[in-house]
Amino acid sequence: MTTEKIDEQRRKFLLAATSVVGGCGVLAAAYPLVSSLLPSSRVQAAAAPVEVDISHLAPGDLMTVEWRGKPVWIIRRTQAMINELHKHAAQLRDPESKVDQQPNYTQNEHRSINPDYLVLIGICTHLGCSPQYKPEPQETNSWPGGFFCPCHGSTFDLAGRVFKGVPAPINLAVPPYTFLAEKRILIGKDWNPGESDV
Ligand code: FES
Repeated sequence: MTTEKIDEQRRKFLLAATSVVGGCGVLAAAYPLVSSLLPSSRVQAAAAPVEVDISHLAPGDLMTVEWRGKPVWIIRRTQAMINELHKHAAQLRDPESKVDQQPNYTQNEHRSINPDYLVLIGICTHLGCSPQYKPEPQETNSWPGGFFCPCHGSTFDLAGRVFKGVPAPINLAVPPYTFLAEKRILIGKDWNPGESDV
């Protein structure tokens, strides 16, 4: 084989090898980009529905769980609390929950699937503070029981409906949820009456 032929073969080999290495480089550079576009498992977990056991909730109790980084309250209402809900509609800004702050299956007087259990996002609709749970009615100031936001004084009833004359413009939000069983709630998945007998 002549020296010229050998040089020509070496040139072709080097050209081919450079192309392969270059291709690998592109793939290696692309991988972090593609992987950064995929949602991390942490993000996926944070967005997932949250299953909650409510069997330990006594009448009148409130428990808080986290869903999508937000506090979600679950309140087991007493019969007296439920009875109170239709007595103060005239004092409420949106007693029929016409503003879109809840799934349509909770657009009722008690703003829930089962009147015994109220599920709300515990964030004030004024500037996002966390209201306090004040369930005890007080005759002296006609307080029927509900939630009080100490930041600027907004008040909500025991269905999360905002009272007139306070800074919060709309009712507290109801998240999507469903019952998996009588005492198990799944926050983050819409209720399908065909799947549940609650
Ligand atoms: S944030 Fe609740 S009243 Fe202002």
